[in-house]
Amino acid sequence: MSAAIVAAALASCAGCFALKRDTQPLSAESISGYEPYAQFARAAHCLGGSQTWECGDACAANKDFKLYASGGDGTSDLPFYFVGYSPSLASIIVAHGGMEAQDLATALQGPYIAQAPVNLTMFPGVDEDTMVYAGFRDAHSRSADAVLAAVQETIATTGAAVLTTLGHGLGGALAEMDAAYLRLNIPYIRMNTVTFGKPRVGNAAWVDLVDANADSNARINNMRDPIPVLPAQTSTYEHPTGEIHVVQEGMWLACIANNGREDDEDAECTIQSVRRMPDYLLISHQTGPYNGIFIGSEYC
Ligand SMILES: *[C@@H]1O[C@H](CO)[C@@H](O)[C@H](O)[C@H]1NC(C)=O
Repeated sequence: MSAAIVAAALASCAGCFALKRDTQPLSAESISGYEPYAQFARAAHCLGGSQTWECGDACAANKDFKLYASGGDGTSDLPFYFVGYSPSLASIIVAHGGMEAQDLATALQGPYIAQAPVNLTMFPGVDEDTMVYAGFRDAHSRSADAVLAAVQETIATTGAAVLTTLGHGLGGALAEMDAAYLRLNIPYIRMNTVTFGKPRVGNAAWVDLVDANADSNARINNMRDPIPVLPAQTSTYEHPTGEIHVVQEGMWLACIANNGREDDEDAECTIQSVRRMPDYLLISHQTGPYNGIFIGSEYC
């Protein structure tokens, strides 16, 4: 074998090893880059439908934010939400609040969690086999018109063409639904999604739709939070790309195998971490923290 062929073989082998790596640690700078988003997700629990941007530390952490609309009644049928513009992130923000973690876990546990087709008037041009959890579909539909109108008003006023949807738990599920919904209805927008402790939302056709419409998706899961493994994959629920698993404070791993969808083989990613019932730690969901930021109505 010539030296050139050996060198080529070694070079391609190095490529092979690189492909086999299933996780990549985030830099401290990347981790702290998610802080404003965690504070917005926290504010979604704290603002409580107020029409002024005042909710204590969570609002103060993004003090340049311009609130355009807020609503919801704080129930799991219609969680609080808000829409506005962040000059420092150069993005429109759509944030949804969530619900009590134990109630969410109870609703999503069980051998069969019913799916329903998305509303094709709201999701124009989507395949008819695109299915989501019926409870998420209904909760999303109750805020969808108002959120879309507020986003259009924010675009008209600021000229912004970048939008970030975000939320924690149920709020993350609604943020994922908004990513597809708002992008389909405002096709020129750049769509980013950041979720914390998000459950699975829909079937394979649904996650294909989300991945086709979200330009970036960070699906941040804390330690052994069980919510991200509900509803079960056996009920044909999946996650889109972008898992980032917080394995300990200051150690966030991007799960990059399986095109960044769900990795059930890597011990460091969520599925393996929470596979066994005794390992379920609902407290990981309830409290975070996400780089020191606690999300939930008890942290306002
Ligand atoms: C679908 O969405 C449209 C527009 O919001 C609404 O008028 C209609 O009632 C919805 N259909 C169903 C079956 O929920």
